[in-house]
Amino acid sequence: MKLHQQIGVDMPDPVAVTAPGMDSAAVSEYLTQYMNAAQDALLLLDDAGCIQYCNLQARLLAHSLNPDKNQDELLHLRDWQPGLLSDSAMHTCRESGSWIGAVRIAGAVLRNRIAQVHLVALGPQRTQPFAMCIRDITLEYAREQELHERNAELEIAYTKLKSAQEMAFHTEKLASIGQLAAGVAHEINNPIAYVKSNLNMLRLPLAQLLRQARIPECEDDLRQAVSDELNEDAMNACDEALAIDVRDLITESLEGVDRVCRIVSDLKDFSHQDQAENWTMADVHAGLDSTLNIVWNEIKYKAHVVKSYGDLPLIECIPSQLNQVFMNLLVNASQAIDNNGIITITSECSGDQVRISIGDNGKGIPAEALPRIFDPFFTTKDVGHGTGLGLAISYGVIAKHHGVIEVTSVPGEGTLFMLKLPIAQPR
Ligand SMILES: Nc1ncnc2c1ncn2[C@@H]1O[C@H](COP(=O)(O)OP(=O)(O)OP(=O)(O)O)[C@@H](O)[C@H]1O
Ligand SMILES: [Mg+2]
Repeated sequence: MKLHQQIGVDMPDPVAVTAPGMDSAAVSEYLTQYMNAAQDALLLLDDAGCIQYCNLQARLLAHSLNPDKNQDELLHLRDWQPGLLSDSAMHTCRESGSWIGAVRIAGAVLRNRIAQVHLVALGPQRTQPFAMCIRDITLEYAREQELHERNAELEIAYTKLKSAQEMAFHTEKLASIGQLAAGVAHEINNPIAYVKSNLNMLRLPLAQLLRQARIPECEDDLRQAVSDELNEDAMNACDEALAIDVRDLITESLEGVDRVCRIVSDLKDFSHQDQAENWTMADVHAGLDSTLNIVWNEIKYKAHVVKSYGDLPLIECIPSQLNQVFMNLLVNASQAIDNNGIITITSECSGDQVRISIGDNGKGIPAEALPRIFDPFFTTKDVGHGTGLGLAISYGVIAKHHGVIEVTSVPGEGTLFMLKLPIAQPR
């Protein structure tokens, strides 16, 4: 089947377009002229690789590859350069009608050039003669090589950047854990301090009580225990110490211990250590509350927190990661406030998603910064105060949850972040 038939174009046979007076000898003459003007080396070969015809470029190529040989010594293609046409190329051409490949050409004049070789079987049943076109593609090849090298360099740079980013994310995580630990330490310190002081205050009335109850062994122990602070006379004179309301001290101490227990349990909820990467149905409000307790130390001197929780179903999520987002938004809100601010936390269910908003009446975000706040490392905070990863990480977490995070801000008035999260993750 002819080419024009294959591609369905209604094209007349080439012989038919030969103008009157243009016989095949003239056509052949013109075609030969045209072949000699071509930029590529064009050849006709027989089955054994002997040259039947070659155009001007081919003759120039043969000569530049072998300047010392005469024409008679260049009758076979292998005389030009061994390997210019390999057996396997010839085999493929006989099998499938054509072969194309790249060959390195190296002669006395032509050094280290790359040629594209295209071989086509012209005879019936993919036999001789074979047409060969040799094209110098050294420049294209060099460009391609350079492109490959650039690509490889880019890939290495990308890998380095990714690992640097991962490290930075890790550092950010460590930084927020550090921040969290400092806050928690502060929060625990207070109740522990007054529990300790209350216990100290209880030692004396307890010793008095035991004395009155006449339990000498215990009394001795206690006498010993308080002897650093009080001598015998003082102890005897301390009956009025019983007037201290022991019950008050105990109640207060229990409250302190309760507060510590709550912080520890919030910490556990916050980190969800046992199910760090697990998708589970979780209560968003519980996550918000435990996170709020964790960052309370950061917020309490700066803002009132106003909560307005709607009715929310459990949502499918990785709770520890959502808590990390809540923490980043709450800390950002608090950092945007100088003092006496208000942070609002609202939630509502809308169709198949829940919406959680965290707003503040802090300094707001300038319009020119707004498009960049989710970029990794974008921060307006002083060196050492912000890594600029909080929102980038939050964005990633919300995207992983198939949700969106939206922000509106008015400079000087405040900022509102809204998280929209699907109740169930798409399967
Ligand atoms: N509630 C907000 N009010 C005002 N500006 C905000 C608020 N939240 C974020 N921004 C701006 O967006 C920037 C990026 O926030 P992001 O949480 O990503 O980083 P950061 O807070 O600067 O540092 P990091 O969270 O890593 O400690 C902040 O530096 C700040 O300029
Ligand atoms: Mg932040």
